[in-house]
Amino acid sequence: MAIATKITDIVNRKILRRDRDRWNYQYNLGRWEGLGDINELARFSVIAGYAQHLKPNGKVLEIGAGEGYLQQRFDKTKYSLYYSTDASDVAVENGKKYEDEKTKYVIADMNDYAPDQKFDVIIINEAIYYGGSVDKVLGRFNAYLEQGGIFIVSINGDERNADWHRMMEASTFSKIDGTTVVCTRNTFYITVLSGK
Ligand SMILES: C[S@@+](CC[C@H](N)C(=O)[O-])C[C@H]1O[C@@H](n2cnc3c(N)ncnc32)[C@H](O)[C@@H]1O
Repeated sequence: MAIATKITDIVNRKILRRDRDRWNYQYNLGRWEGLGDINELARFSVIAGYAQHLKPNGKVLEIGAGEGYLQQRFDKTKYSLYYSTDASDVAVENGKKYEDEKTKYVIADMNDYAPDQKFDVIIINEAIYYGGSVDKVLGRFNAYLEQGGIFIVSINGDERNADWHRMMEASTFSKIDGTTVVCTRNTFYITVLSGK
């Protein structure tokens, strides 16, 4: 990166104090396009596999979905509704070309979003970090789970996430299953939990 670009980048990161502005800035730079790479596919495939197997033709809500790579890797014949939501309007706008009658891209902050209906599966894929705590996020969205509905949560193995793994271990939501996906760049701990 040229020095001038690097300085602009540092200044912008400091100035853009609002979370949404920071994420928009990064999405505008294409900083998160790598999430669409083949070396992230295993994580998305495991999450989609759990959702499609446990709730065939289910209604899916994804929180902090970014540009929607997970939705784009689902078999569309295997869900009846998919809301791909994120706080970044730039990310949501980039995903809107994948919308159809049962697939919606929605701007939503997980800390105050009130969906207009209930879902069979709620997915928080590498985004729970922005909701305060594991049980705070699950507790908020439990109200939007259908009877028998499930959560699927991915938390990556970065050592800075130790507290998040401890919170998941201590969650008051019952675990149905969990697995570890070792990708080229990172390791992901994926947990399936039942609603209350
Ligand atoms: C690491 S990215 C993960 C994106 C996507 N889930 C994936 O795995 O490809 C984290 C995402 O969380 C979103 N985010 C951050 N704070 C949020 C909030 N309060 N509510 C909703 N989304 C948020 C960001 O805009 C970003 O798209």
